Order: sequence, then structure tokens, then C-alpha cells
Amino acid sequence: MLDAVKALLEPSRRSEVPPFMVMDVMAAAARIEAAGGHVIHMEVGQPAAPAPRTAIAAAQAALVQGRVGYTEALGIPSLRARIAKHYAESYGVALDPARVVVTTGSSGGFILAFLAMFEPGDRVAVTVPGYPPYRHILTALGCEPVLIEISQATRWSITVDALLETHRRTPLKGVLVASPANPTGTMMRPEALSELIAAAEREGIRFISDEIYHRLDYAFPAETAAKFSDNAVIINSFSKYFCMTGWRVGWMVAPEALVRPVERLQQNLAISVPTLSQVAAAAAFEGREEMEAVKHGYEENRRILVDGLPGAGLTKFLPVDGAFYLYADVSRFTDDSFDFAQRMLEEAGVAATPGIDFDPIDGKHFVRFCYAGSAADMREAVARIGRWLQRG
Ligand SMILES: Cc1ncc(COP(=O)(O)O)c(C=O)c1O
Repeated sequence: MLDAVKALLEPSRRSEVPPFMVMDVMAAAARIEAAGGHVIHMEVGQPAAPAPRTAIAAAQAALVQGRVGYTEALGIPSLRARIAKHYAESYGVALDPARVVVTTGSSGGFILAFLAMFEPGDRVAVTVPGYPPYRHILTALGCEPVLIEISQATRWSITVDALLETHRRTPLKGVLVASPANPTGTMMRPEALSELIAAAEREGIRFISDEIYHRLDYAFPAETAAKFSDNAVIINSFSKYFCMTGWRVGWMVAPEALVRPVERLQQNLAISVPTLSQVAAAAAFEGREEMEAVKHGYEENRRILVDGLPGAGLTKFLPVDGAFYLYADVSRFTDDSFDFAQRMLEEAGVAATPGIDFDPIDGKHFVRFCYAGSAADMREAVARIGRWLQRG
């Protein structure tokens, strides 16, 4: 009897994915604010600005019509065509709209891509530090994430040597990279990306490129993997550049042979992506001017932090190439970045994310700052951190 009850209550082993520590920081920040304190939020990786006005207007107009039905599983054809046109406009790449799949944010894209590409037990290389859900989604689907440590020596990205060496030790079925990356904010040079894709494909390793932070590039222009291979799977989203996190809409560029399998999966898993969000997404491309202004704001924030943090005491951080993250080395002060982030929140009123969320190996020495807020907040954060570190 007891065993039967236990069996009814027991969650699956695959659901045992770790929580996101940043949520604990957010909860602590909320408690401080509820007690009247003022917190500068640099912990959550999302834009402070709203979606482009064009997107909001398109969704409002569609809503007024009343009926909001399902769409095609692969997405509204005009949106898929608009996304394909974006590749011609932004990268000079001619892309067949038939290869574009609209997804529920890039998060939905990863689930579809991994299911369509990999069998349970397949090994897929990801970076540490890296975005935790890559590892956790793979694990939940029965695949095995293989961690490749990146460092200053490899300019914080996976090199051909590291990939091949890992592949010899533990044969890989796939590799996933992001440029610009989260949490590091670093980017791969186009030549490095092209070489890595070619090396992976020579070995039969499938390549997944997370391009969610494209267009938020400051050091040099980000290049799409679509330029180098028709076999690479590209995941992207309206969440970051277009400031549409809550709309839950993104896209995938799939090799031709994967489109039908992805379509079948989408039909069964989600039917289709929220219709209003798709309508808004198509119109978001016409809001470029507004979004470029938001991007200029990030550039100013980046300048304030890069110029100000060393004087405040945070002298070591990774190249601040793109996205809206600065990954700071706090090993001078602590061996416990979670404790450091908690104290910085409680004593200085600045919320940031401990590196352990992104890197189980060396994350205890790093803290991630998101600079998607206001310039005034960035200046205030630099001042507060400076006073706090001085107090020691
Ligand atoms: C690197 C990276 N990829 C993917 C995502 C998921 O974003 P979304 O599902 O909103 O498109 C995020 C979110 O922060 C991210 O940082």
C-alpha cells in the first residue's frame, strides 16, 4: 500500500533539474523592496523597455477582431517569410522561408530542436559558463550535456581543438554555442564560428547556434551560422533585441530535412505558437528605429560600467562584447559568489546573479550584471558598489 502511494507521488528522475539561483536573489530583492528599500535590479536578463510600438499596435488590431484561432504549426506564413527576409537584410543570406519555424520563444525552439536531432543518451557539448537551461533541457530529454570549460585562453568560446579533444574522449552528437553569450557577454569572431562549424560537421557533430542576442553586438557585428552551413540549426527569439520576453515568440532555422519532423513535433506538443504574439512579431521588424534607440541605451550603460567598475573595485571582467551582460571576476573578494551576491544586495542594494547558476565549476568566483536598465541606475550601481567594497 505504502509503495503504491509512493509511486503515485514520486516525480520522475528526469524532472530533477536544478533551480535557478537568480530566483532566490529576486525573492530577496522583493523582500527588501517590500520593507521600503530601493534595489537596483541587475539580476534578471531581460530588457526594461516594452515591445516596439508597431508590435503592440498590430496585436491590439488583431485582438479587436475578436476571434483568435490556431495558426499553422510552423507559424503564420507571412511571419516566416518576414523572418527569412531579415536574413537577406541583416546578413546577406538568401534563406528559403520553408526552413523557418516559429517557436514559443527560443526555449520552445530548443525543445523542438533537441527532440528532432537527438536520441536519448546522445551527448551534446555546451560551454561552462553557459546558459543553464541548455544543460537542463538536454537532461530532461534524456540526453547527456557534455561540459566544455571555456576561459580567457580561448577567448571564452569553444575552439576547434577543445571540441575535437572532447569528441575523442566522449563521442558527441551535437554542440551548441551562443554568440553573444549569456552569462559572459562575449562573442565569437566570424572566422572562429565558421571554423568550428566546419570542424563539427566534418566529424558528424550537429551544430546548434543560439543567436538570441544577435543585433546586441558592440565589439563587432555578430555573424549568423546560416552563412556558413545549411545544416546548422539556428535558434533565435523576439525576447531580447525586440524586448518581447513575455510574448513568448521566437524562431528556428532548420535544415530542410528537419522541417517536417519539427512540424510533427510542434503539432503534437503545442499545436501552434500564440497567434497574437506571431502577429506582433511580424510587425516588430518595422520597429527597428525604436529598438536601435534601446540598443544605444545599452551601449551607454555598457560604457558606464566598463569605465566605472574598475574604480569601484571590480577590476576584472570578461570582454564586454555583446548581449547586455557583464561577467565580473570577484575571486579577489570571495570563494562564494552566492554569498557575495546576497551581501551586495542586502548591504549595497544592488541585485546581480551569482556565477554558480551558470558554471558549477568556477562560478563561485563570478557575478553576472545585466545592464538592460537605465543609465541612471548604472551610475548609481557603480557608486553603491564602490562605497560597499570600500567599507569592506
Ligand atoms: C542564451 C539564452 N538563450 C535562450 C534564452 C531563452 O529566451 P526565450 O525563451 O525568451 O527566447 C535566454 C533567456 O535568457 C538566453 O539567455
